[in-house]
Amino acid sequence: KEKVRTSYVCENCGHTEGQWWGYCRSCKFAGTMKKFSETGGGNGDKVSGIVASENMVKSWLPQQAAEVNPVSLAEVNRDVNHLEWRIPLPGPFGDEVARVLGGGLVPGSLVLVGGDPGVGKSTLMLQLAAIITEGQGHGKQAPVIYVSGEESVQQIGNRADRMGIGTEDLYLYSSSEIEDIMGKIQNLSPRALIIDSIQTVYLNGVVGSPGGLTQVKECTSALLRFAKKTDIPVLLIGHVTKSGEIAGPRVLEHIVDVVLYVEGEKSSSHRLLRPVKNRFGSTDELGVFEMSQSGLQAVSNPSEIFLSEQHLESDVLAGLAVTVVMDGSRSFLIEIQALCVAGSSASKRHATGIQSSRAEMIIAVLMKQAGLALQENSIFLNVLRGAELTETAGDLAVAVAICSSFLECPVPNYVAFLGEIGLGGELRTVSRIEKRVNTVAKLGYQMCIVPKSAEKALASFGFEGMKIVGCKNLKEVINTVF
Ligand code: TYD
Ligand code: MG
Repeated sequence: KEKVRTSYVCENCGHTEGQWWGYCRSCKFAGTMKKFSETGGGNGDKVSGIVASENMVKSWLPQQAAEVNPVSLAEVNRDVNHLEWRIPLPGPFGDEVARVLGGGLVPGSLVLVGGDPGVGKSTLMLQLAAIITEGQGHGKQAPVIYVSGEESVQQIGNRADRMGIGTEDLYLYSSSEIEDIMGKIQNLSPRALIIDSIQTVYLNGVVGSPGGLTQVKECTSALLRFAKKTDIPVLLIGHVTKSGEIAGPRVLEHIVDVVLYVEGEKSSSHRLLRPVKNRFGSTDELGVFEMSQSGLQAVSNPSEIFLSEQHLESDVLAGLAVTVVMDGSRSFLIEIQALCVAGSSASKRHATGIQSSRAEMIIAVLMKQAGLALQENSIFLNVLRGAELTETAGDLAVAVAICSSFLECPVPNYVAFLGEIGLGGELRTVSRIEKRVNTVAKLGYQMCIVPKSAEKALASFGFEGMKIVGCKNLKEVINTVF
């Protein structure tokens, strides 16, 4: 007989419940609890997944030497060398990854690297594996092991050849059984272990199929214990899919030490490496890479690429403005495009990716409070590359894009806009504004227009020399920009 386990997992934060709730009891989001069912192994016995895997993991993991008891704060042995030592990642690529990790790879850490299929996670990890072997210096050579459940060793070898990786200390292994993997690598005592991907590995004796909620969680917990007991860092790849993200990285964010996301557009060769959780460093870092014929290359000066990509367009095109939206704890740059066409008797409004009622309100405020004669204009609004603007934080960028098109005057490509617009044309501050401002600063923007009320607090952060300009209302913004 088949046993079906049902759990409810929050799509937003990964919180798990045994029963359905209308809102998530952890992050308080409404309607995010999604049902998740798995069929069990069918033997119907009482062995829960957790107990079974514990025993198995114990069989091949080094046993704890002594019992551990609570220690008084004064007696804690602060071995600074051990705490601060990081595995070196040499070269420009290594520097960029090390910065995102908070200064290097911490021994015994469990790092999850998530991203859409095809974005370049395997490429990144293979390169990182090679870099770790290079950083060992003389004497203590130890291999790095790249385990793939998705590709054969020949496929990975071919990829390594294309990328010009030729180190002898990189070991490739194609397997998807955790116990087998652990058994094989034990004798090699590697410097780091890479698993591609968490969705393909499984533990024997744990219910569910690979990629299922229980397997993914149990395998990750087993790897966490492995990392902590051996001090070997483990890097996991996790796919994020639009539909099935429930068993993906979101659920694992609580278990692992570090969560990095690889982001990028199919149409562009640039890739961002963004920490969304880091027990060893800040989540405000951002790594910028370019995908080339020979893998990922660190981009040392992101302002050049991001601004030049836009440059061609915004130099000649009026009606473009940039803002930052948040998705959970992640921030994204989005571009808003507006087109005002004068002279039509029936003025039309058309918005894609922006709520039309919000767009109507912003247009009304521009006419009434900023004196723009938009009455006779048809106005088209579009969020570029199919993104969606759901936050009022983008109001100001929408207004500026409309002004720019109406005045036929391009917005300088180094300026970003943040702020909610009130009915009186006044600018209001938005949630997590420092995080958003930080993102545009990291990407090389030179000026950010923010609500006056937020200016003071923001100015104290510095933001790598980016100019913060506070404006009280839309009129002030228009006078500043055009
Ligand atoms: P991959 O790392 O396989 O993605 P993931 O593991 O996230 O699914 O990368 C896939 C894409 O990267 C693929 O379309 C080819 C491209 N690519 C390059 O452009 N240059 C390279 O050197 C490599 C190895 C891949
Ligand atoms: Mg891959």
